Amino acid sequence: MTEMRAFAIGFCGGSGIAYGLRLVTVLLQAGHTVHLAATGAALRVMRHEAGLDVDQLRPDLAALFEDSLRQRLIVHDLAAVEATPSSGSAKLSATILIPCSMGTLARVAHGFSSNLVERMADVAIKEGRPLVVVPRETPLSVIHLENMLKLARAGAIMLPAMPGYYHRPQTVQDLVDFVVGKVLDRLGVEHTLQPRWRTPAGDRLAGNGDHPAASASPWDEEEERP
Ligand SMILES: Cc1cc2nc3c(=O)[nH]c(=O)nc-3n(C[C@H](O)[C@H](O)[C@H](O)COP(=O)(O)O)c2cc1C
Repeated sequence: MTEMRAFAIGFCGGSGIAYGLRLVTVLLQAGHTVHLAATGAALRVMRHEAGLDVDQLRPDLAALFEDSLRQRLIVHDLAAVEATPSSGSAKLSATILIPCSMGTLARVAHGFSSNLVERMADVAIKEGRPLVVVPRETPLSVIHLENMLKLARAGAIMLPAMPGYYHRPQTVQDLVDFVVGKVLDRLGVEHTLQPRWRTPAGDRLAGNGDHPAASASPWDEEEERP
């Protein structure tokens, strides 16, 4: 049986709120608990790019998810530095900043902890728990890159929102699922968001095959996407 775990997720004001919404949904669907907090900029970006009109002063983030999923979703106020995920004693498997703005990235890299999202990340680092950061910006300045390196050196997993194209995505959802699938892989959460690459048939004919059931497709056809 799959072990149920608890994750802390921070939405920041980087573009790509769809990544965050999808990750929370998949974790809740899988039966995990999610502690969620969003920065004010995340709420603004949500309105601009997803048309989600969340009240900026009293955001009801739980309303973004289906009723059946809300039982294991705990939404925290950004200012609530006394909230569970703010403490090193909280039993959390990992913290994920998705999407992560360059602003939050910089503040986490320098230990600011000026709100709950930054504090959750700071705590993950100090406790040696997994911190997955999904930054989004382009182009990247030297400052951005140095902050990313600083966080990577502190143990954070830098997982930029850079979807691949070798799986021939047909929809925006395919691109979102590519990135979210990568996050889930790092969290050790089983998923079928994207097919898994296998040695293409041509390579097998050349003697480089690594799978007994050679097929023309490089994808694991047995897996079905949700
Ligand atoms: C529509 C929109 C898209 C944005 N996209 C990005 C982005 O991709 N990356 C980024 O670092 N900032 C982006 N920003 C700017 C951040 O939201 C801004 O720097 C904000 O202060 C970050 O705050 P936070 O770190 O507290 O979330 C965007 C802003 C808007 C309104």
